[in-house]
Amino acid sequence: MVCLGNICRSPLAEGLLASKLPQDKFLVDSAGTGNYHVGRQPDARSIATAEKNGLSIAQQRARQFTPRDFDAFDYIYVMDNSNYDDVIALAKNESHKQKVDLILNALFPGDNVDVPDPYYGLQNGFDMVYEMLDEATDIIAQRLLEKSS
Ligand code: 4NP
Repeated sequence: MVCLGNICRSPLAEGLLASKLPQDKFLVDSAGTGNYHVGRQPDARSIATAEKNGLSIAQQRARQFTPRDFDAFDYIYVMDNSNYDDVIALAKNESHKQKVDLILNALFPGDNVDVPDPYYGLQNGFDMVYEMLDEATDIIAQRLLEKSS
Protein backbone atom coordinates (compact mmCIF):
# COMPACT_ATOMS: atom_id res chain seq x y z
CA MET A 1 0.00 0.00 0.00
CA VAL A 2 1.65 3.23 -1.13
CA CYS A 3 0.84 6.91 -0.68
CA LEU A 4 2.97 10.04 -0.40
CA GLY A 5 3.74 10.36 3.30
CA ASN A 6 2.85 6.86 4.58
CA ILE A 7 1.08 8.50 7.52
CA CYS A 8 -2.53 9.08 6.36
CA ARG A 9 -3.92 6.83 3.60
CA SER A 10 -1.60 3.84 3.19
CA PRO A 11 -1.47 3.00 6.93
CA LEU A 12 -5.28 2.68 6.84
CA ALA A 13 -5.08 0.57 3.68
CA GLU A 14 -2.43 -1.66 5.27
CA GLY A 15 -4.41 -2.09 8.50
CA LEU A 16 -7.62 -2.84 6.63
CA LEU A 17 -6.18 -5.39 4.21
CA ALA A 18 -4.10 -7.10 6.91
CA SER A 19 -7.25 -7.48 9.04
CA LYS A 20 -8.98 -9.34 6.19
CA LEU A 21 -6.24 -11.88 5.39
CA PRO A 22 -4.63 -14.71 7.39
CA GLN A 23 -1.34 -13.39 8.79
CA ASP A 24 0.54 -16.63 8.23
CA LYS A 25 -0.13 -16.58 4.48
CA PHE A 26 0.11 -12.92 3.48
CA LEU A 27 2.56 -10.10 4.11
CA VAL A 28 0.84 -6.71 3.97
CA ASP A 29 2.91 -3.55 4.32
CA SER A 30 2.83 0.11 3.38
CA ALA A 31 5.30 2.80 2.35
CA GLY A 32 5.42 6.39 1.14
CA THR A 33 6.99 7.71 -2.03
CA GLY A 34 8.32 10.64 0.02
CA ASN A 35 10.70 10.49 2.98
CA TYR A 36 9.37 13.39 5.07
CA HIS A 37 7.76 11.25 7.76
CA VAL A 38 10.03 8.19 7.87
CA GLY A 39 9.99 6.55 11.31
CA ARG A 40 6.83 8.34 12.44
CA GLN A 41 3.55 6.90 13.63
CA PRO A 42 0.50 7.31 11.40
CA ASP A 43 -1.21 10.71 11.60
CA ALA A 44 -3.30 10.98 14.80
CA ARG A 45 -6.41 11.45 12.66
CA SER A 46 -5.81 8.15 10.81
CA ILE A 47 -5.22 6.41 14.13
CA ALA A 48 -8.50 7.88 15.49
CA THR A 49 -10.53 6.86 12.43
CA ALA A 50 -9.10 3.35 12.56
CA GLU A 51 -9.71 3.09 16.30
CA LYS A 52 -13.34 4.14 15.85
CA ASN A 53 -13.70 1.15 13.53
CA GLY A 54 -11.95 -1.28 15.85
CA LEU A 55 -8.67 -1.29 13.92
CA SER A 56 -5.31 -0.61 15.54
CA ILE A 57 -2.69 1.02 13.30
CA ALA A 58 -0.71 2.92 15.97
CA GLN A 59 2.08 0.35 15.88
CA GLN A 60 2.93 1.16 12.24
CA ARG A 61 5.97 3.30 11.40
CA ALA A 62 6.42 5.20 8.15
CA ARG A 63 9.03 4.08 5.64
CA GLN A 64 9.93 5.12 2.13
CA PHE A 65 9.09 2.98 -0.88
CA THR A 66 12.22 1.37 -2.33
CA PRO A 67 12.83 -0.43 -5.64
CA ARG A 68 13.40 -3.61 -3.57
CA ASP A 69 9.66 -3.58 -2.89
CA PHE A 70 9.06 -4.61 -6.50
CA ASP A 71 10.70 -7.94 -5.73
CA ALA A 72 9.40 -8.30 -2.17
CA PHE A 73 5.70 -7.88 -3.06
CA ASP A 74 3.38 -9.39 -5.66
CA TYR A 75 0.94 -6.48 -5.71
CA ILE A 76 1.57 -2.78 -5.17
CA TYR A 77 -1.53 -0.65 -4.61
CA VAL A 78 -1.07 3.10 -4.89
CA MET A 79 -3.52 5.67 -3.55
CA ASP A 80 -3.41 8.27 -6.33
CA ASN A 81 -2.14 8.99 -9.82
CA SER A 82 0.83 10.96 -8.56
CA ASN A 83 1.92 7.99 -6.40
CA TYR A 84 1.43 5.82 -9.50
CA ASP A 85 3.81 7.96 -11.57
CA ASP A 86 6.41 8.07 -8.78
CA VAL A 87 6.37 4.31 -8.27
CA ILE A 88 6.38 3.50 -11.99
CA ALA A 89 9.41 5.79 -12.39
CA LEU A 90 11.34 3.42 -10.09
CA ALA A 91 10.35 0.25 -11.97
CA LYS A 92 13.19 -1.50 -13.78
CA ASN A 93 11.13 -3.74 -16.04
CA GLU A 94 7.67 -4.58 -17.32
CA SER A 95 7.01 -7.19 -14.63
CA HIS A 96 7.60 -4.53 -11.94
CA LYS A 97 5.22 -2.14 -13.69
CA GLN A 98 2.50 -4.76 -13.92
CA LYS A 99 2.44 -5.15 -10.15
CA VAL A 100 1.31 -1.54 -9.69
CA ASP A 101 -2.32 -0.43 -9.73
CA LEU A 102 -4.47 2.32 -8.25
CA ILE A 103 -6.31 0.82 -5.29
CA LEU A 104 -9.70 2.24 -6.31
CA ASN A 105 -9.49 0.37 -9.62
CA ALA A 106 -10.64 -2.58 -7.48
CA LEU A 107 -13.97 -0.74 -7.13
CA PHE A 108 -14.08 1.25 -10.40
CA PRO A 109 -12.04 -0.81 -12.88
CA GLY A 110 -10.03 1.28 -15.30
CA ASP A 111 -11.34 4.63 -14.01
CA ASN A 112 -8.04 5.52 -12.29
CA VAL A 113 -9.78 7.35 -9.45
CA ASP A 114 -7.63 8.87 -6.67
CA VAL A 115 -8.06 8.28 -2.96
CA PRO A 116 -8.07 11.97 -1.96
CA ASP A 117 -5.24 13.12 0.27
CA PRO A 118 -6.91 14.00 3.62
CA TYR A 119 -3.77 15.58 5.16
CA TYR A 120 -4.83 19.23 4.88
CA GLY A 121 -8.47 18.54 5.73
CA LEU A 122 -10.57 17.60 8.73
CA GLN A 123 -11.34 14.32 10.50
CA ASN A 124 -14.31 13.59 8.22
CA GLY A 125 -11.90 13.37 5.26
CA PHE A 126 -10.15 10.52 7.04
CA ASP A 127 -13.50 8.81 7.67
CA MET A 128 -14.33 9.05 3.96
CA VAL A 129 -10.94 7.63 3.02
CA TYR A 130 -11.53 4.78 5.46
CA GLU A 131 -14.87 3.92 3.85
CA MET A 132 -13.36 3.87 0.34
CA LEU A 133 -10.43 1.75 1.46
CA ASP A 134 -12.70 -0.62 3.37
CA GLU A 135 -14.69 -1.32 0.20
CA ALA A 136 -11.62 -1.64 -2.00
CA THR A 137 -9.81 -3.96 0.42
CA ASP A 138 -12.92 -6.18 0.69
CA ILE A 139 -12.59 -6.88 -3.02
CA ILE A 140 -8.80 -7.19 -2.98
CA ALA A 141 -8.87 -9.60 -0.01
CA GLN A 142 -11.55 -11.71 -1.68
CA ARG A 143 -9.47 -11.96 -4.88
CA LEU A 144 -6.28 -12.82 -3.02
CA LEU A 145 -8.02 -15.50 -0.98
CA GLU A 146 -9.51 -17.01 -4.13
CA LYS A 147 -6.07 -17.07 -5.80
CA SER A 148 -4.41 -18.70 -2.82
CA SER A 149 -7.02 -21.42 -2.33
P1 4NP B 1 -0.49 10.50 2.89
O1 4NP B 1 -0.81 12.02 3.28
O2 4NP B 1 0.26 10.55 1.58
O3 4NP B 1 -1.85 9.90 2.75
O4 4NP B 1 0.31 9.93 4.04
C1 4NP B 1 0.17 13.02 3.35
C2 4NP B 1 0.92 13.15 4.49
C3 4NP B 1 1.86 14.16 4.57
C4 4NP B 1 2.03 15.03 3.53
C5 4NP B 1 1.28 14.90 2.37
C6 4NP B 1 0.35 13.88 2.29
N1 4NP B 1 2.97 16.09 3.64
O5 4NP B 1 3.04 16.90 2.71
O6 4NP B 1 3.70 16.17 4.62
